[in-house]
Amino acid sequence: MLKEEIKKLQKEKDVVILAHYYVDGAVQEIADYVGDSYYLSKVATKVSEKNILFCGVSFMGESAKILNPDKTVIMPDVTADCPMAHMVTIEKIEEMRKQLDDVAVVCYINSSAKIKAHSDVCVTSSNALKVVSALPNKKIFFVPDNNLGRYIAKQLPEKEFIFNDGFCHVHTEIHAEDIKKAKQQYPDVKVLTHPECTQDVLELSDFIGSTSEIIDFATKCEDKEFIIATETGVFYELEMKNPDKKFYPVISQQICPDMKKITLEKVKDALVHLEENVKLEEETKEAAFRPLNRMLELAQA
Ligand code: 13P
Ligand code: SF4
Repeated sequence: MLKEEIKKLQKEKDVVILAHYYVDGAVQEIADYVGDSYYLSKVATKVSEKNILFCGVSFMGESAKILNPDKTVIMPDVTADCPMAHMVTIEKIEEMRKQLDDVAVVCYINSSAKIKAHSDVCVTSSNALKVVSALPNKKIFFVPDNNLGRYIAKQLPEKEFIFNDGFCHVHTEIHAEDIKKAKQQYPDVKVLTHPECTQDVLELSDFIGSTSEIIDFATKCEDKEFIIATETGVFYELEMKNPDKKFYPVISQQICPDMKKITLEKVKDALVHLEENVKLEEETKEAAFRPLNRMLELAQA
């Protein structure tokens, strides 16, 4: 069976498998560690195996490589890429630095390695508030996601935010009207939402958090039903941890096509060939290490 073959190959070749909550349940099932972007970047710095197989999109594999330059990092499908990771340019960042004195360029981890290399600090949805609060700068240029940026800005009125127009095409497909309809269909059921959704959707939500924060909230809460406004990959962990609870998506298209490119067949092929396919220029790797590592330091402080 495919799963057994994967486990056998993995042991033989000294590979640890990391997976994001948005990949298929079958892939999450065979992974050694499953989590949100922050958890996975921390785990990547602690594993002892020589090789990391990253089941997620390219900015995740790249971050693992930047934090572990001496390890081999492999992705089951290198074409699995987050479109938002490319929604800001180096030119725009440099232009903002020229225009604004003492600005901190805060880069959501959902960005390419080159963008990270031009930023001051990285954040994920679960540590952005803590990391940005800890920065001495008053002015914050938040890239690439305008929705997470606006959500954090509202909680930090003492800072002056400048937003970029990047967005997640999956989360922004969920509209306020859809939330209202779901609430009508399931009255008194709490709406748990990822901060990549638009501000009007966030305003209608009962809880806002990263993928793992949504899973934790639903697990600890005594309610038996929840409306979930994020990618449906989280349903695997939600249902496994809470067999007595029901989870409803807001719309049927809460699916990230890139995350869904990762299949068990591709995981097995990647293990058979074990060829590093996360390749970054030395200069980019070194420059991107600083903001990622600063995120880990500030988030853990
Ligand atoms: P998390 O950090 O919440 O896992 O989110 C990653 C992501 O890609 C959301 O679309
Ligand atoms: Fe990128 Fe959105 Fe997919 Fe997350 S869900 S990886 S932000 S496209």
